[in-house]
Amino acid sequence: MRIDIISVVPDLLESPFNHSIMKRAQSRGLLEVHVHNLRDYTPYKQGQVDDYQYGGGAGMVMMPEPLAILIEKLKEDRGYDEIIYMTPDGGLFEQKTANRLSLKNNLMIICGHYKGIDERIRQHFVTMEISIGDYVLSGGELAAAVVVDAIGRLIPGVLNDETSALFDSYQDNLLAPPVYTRPADFRGWVVPEVLLSGDPKKVDAWRHEEALKRTAERRPNLLEGE
Ligand code: ADE
Repeated sequence: MRIDIISVVPDLLESPFNHSIMKRAQSRGLLEVHVHNLRDYTPYKQGQVDDYQYGGGAGMVMMPEPLAILIEKLKEDRGYDEIIYMTPDGGLFEQKTANRLSLKNNLMIICGHYKGIDERIRQHFVTMEISIGDYVLSGGELAAAVVVDAIGRLIPGVLNDETSALFDSYQDNLLAPPVYTRPADFRGWVVPEVLLSGDPKKVDAWRHEEALKRTAERRPNLLEGE
């Protein structure tokens, strides 16, 4: 999968993809992330990419022209399955969105700043709008990093134990059960006996029960399929 990210603060995206599982995904050739600095594509002086909004009001808006120039340049080289705009008024990002996007070949992600991007870019280029939650960040970069991480780890071959993503919280609308590792007795706090039983059926049944319990306590809406 190839992901092109458009940003006015590309430095913010330098670290998130250079560690751990995202780094492995790229070194295995399963994921390519390209971050583009929008200021390199503006026809305006001094790297200008934003301007006052028509109609007045506080806050700058990202101008359509630099975005259109860069988007069209990228589209000349390949087709995109989705052109995504990160915005707090987008559709809420959920595990099922990540699952679906992890099967795509080429994604473009536009990070907004200031008051956001000119509406005409949303109308004429953007195919999908994503919010990572009901709060406002100062820009789309951290949200884009969240989305790329959630998608990247699902690309087949990225996780060593292929099955492990299947048991993540939110797959099957259940939160994940508790997990334990050595030692079995830490300060007198002991691991549930069933996990030491060596009986995979019993372990599975216990995990399912705990996942249900945890979901009912913390996120009952998931059990109602909301
Ligand atoms: N940009 C600013 N806030 C955001 C959010 N909550 N989700 C996605 N992009 C954003």
